[in-house]
Amino acid sequence: MCGIVGYVGDKACQQILVHSLKNLEYRGYDSAGIAVFEGDKLKTVKAKGKIDEGLVPRLLENGELKAVAGIGHTRWATHGEPSDINAHPHGNARVSIVHNGIIENYRKIKDFLIGNGYSFESQTDTETVAKLLDYHYNGNPLETIAATVSELEGAYSLGIIFREHKNKIYAVRKESPLIVGIGEGEMFIASDMTAILEYTKNYYLPEAGEIAEIDKNGVTFYDIHGNVIEKEIQTAQWDVTAAQKGGYEHFMLKEIHEQPAALKNTLTPRISDGMPSFEECGLTDEMLRNYRNVFIVGCGSAMHAGMVGKYVIEQIARTPVTVDIASEFKYRDPLITKDDLLIIISQSGETADTLSALRLGNSIGADTLAAVNVAGSSIDREAKMSVKTLAGPEISVCSTKAYMVQCAFMYMFAFRLAYARGKISAETCRDYTAKLLQLPDLIQECIDRKEQYQRVAAKLMNAVSLLYIGRGLDYALSMEGSLKLKEISYIHSESYAGGELKHGTISLIDDEMPVIAVATQTNLFAKTIANVEEVKARGAKVVLVCRDSAEVTADIADHFIRIPDTDDLLMPLVTAVPLQMTAYYTALDRECSIDTPRNLAKSVTVE
Ligand code: AGP
Repeated sequence: MCGIVGYVGDKACQQILVHSLKNLEYRGYDSAGIAVFEGDKLKTVKAKGKIDEGLVPRLLENGELKAVAGIGHTRWATHGEPSDINAHPHGNARVSIVHNGIIENYRKIKDFLIGNGYSFESQTDTETVAKLLDYHYNGNPLETIAATVSELEGAYSLGIIFREHKNKIYAVRKESPLIVGIGEGEMFIASDMTAILEYTKNYYLPEAGEIAEIDKNGVTFYDIHGNVIEKEIQTAQWDVTAAQKGGYEHFMLKEIHEQPAALKNTLTPRISDGMPSFEECGLTDEMLRNYRNVFIVGCGSAMHAGMVGKYVIEQIARTPVTVDIASEFKYRDPLITKDDLLIIISQSGETADTLSALRLGNSIGADTLAAVNVAGSSIDREAKMSVKTLAGPEISVCSTKAYMVQCAFMYMFAFRLAYARGKISAETCRDYTAKLLQLPDLIQECIDRKEQYQRVAAKLMNAVSLLYIGRGLDYALSMEGSLKLKEISYIHSESYAGGELKHGTISLIDDEMPVIAVATQTNLFAKTIANVEEVKARGAKVVLVCRDSAEVTADIADHFIRIPDTDDLLMPLVTAVPLQMTAYYTALDRECSIDTPRNLAKSVTVE
């Protein structure tokens, strides 16, 4: 959602803050700013726009800030439009803060402060927190922060500096992510480790309500009563190159190319005796036998991975599966009980809607199983059981390798569930697993066929709106293909069950409405081809995504995307690549901001 950073050490902090913020820009890029105390004077430099477009030129105008401690912020607007005034940091002569999250009761607090003589210049909830800190300030930062956060409702991770404590930074969180980085004679705070991986791999994970007092030699954690809390040091498993572009034009292209390795890294550690095993996270066969229903919850691509999971689980494990958009799940009073399993899928592990769904499942007493890509994230820590999808850092807002490994997790879960329930034999389970382990090579083959995606992209780039259609697993994939195209090329698209077109939507079809038909499922191929003929008869230009082995006449479609064959059940993992790369090259042709699409952020930590 937003990214916060902080530094305290012996070096001039400006460049470190700016560089760390740029590593976090995928979390939000409406505006950015930094603040330090130069002597007794608060110096804040902030600007609308991305860091290189706004903040950096403004810093050049202002001259280097002279301080060894400071805070920084890159924003995804929630309250108040992107502007210089609404950019963080926010503060006054005594205190300055950066904030990630939403304060739900900020209006009530703001009215109280106005009644006590405070004035406000921005539309943000964050400025209210800054002024509340000033209101409670008694010279003791710990007491001041404790008094302030005790009044806040909502989610926050705060970086705070005080004029009278210039060589320290303070931090506190609730629900929003925050880490404290441990350097040599310097310390950091950040929303996540990608901000500071080049400076350190060691960090602390503050729990909700723990206040961090940080100087260049280290950090002390306190509870809100001022008691010292001892914490364990964590070490990041990623290295700095993993979080950089590595020669690719965009993070998205790099992360597409990382998919074979991401898949191997996610599958291999969890294969035991030729079959998937989840014993390491506490999920036993006996537990799998006893669950009544399986619920799967996620947002966006994570939910789409859940859709793939539904088809696969119900097909081979014959267990009822409900897939929910996380923001709907919590508010539809779901029929989930303590006898059910709730699977939570999230790359960032911080998506607020998904975290809320997890908390509902925990409160009902259902077993909760998370599939997350970021270790130490809120969802990773709050789920009863957690499986790491080992894709490495996914920086591009557009999810690719994370979706791939989320689907892989779904397959492993489905195979183990089916085996545990006696729906497939150990031999069949091993056969499926062996085929799964062959997929990285097929995915690489798909990646290598980039010319066909470039050809199709050239035909799609001027489209205003288009349809993705499919049936069964191909329908689940069409959802993901549509989202990829929309979010990075800004072309409107919609995914539709092929068999449903004739019940209304086919009225949209004309020669201005291209159709991308996903047809990889053998038992449904003829049906989808019939849908292709229906839309072609009404003037649509058709792109047919089909297997190498598919027997079709050249005139059935205007363009073809051919993909290598594998078991019907496993085709989604191969089909995802053409859909990702077609969207990528279409956005490239349209000169869109591929890694940082307008209006979006990598992790949406507000409901
Ligand atoms: C996917 O391309 C999108 N960027 C978005 O839908 C994303 O999948 C969704 O916000 C969920 O994020 P999460 O996996 O971090 O929870």
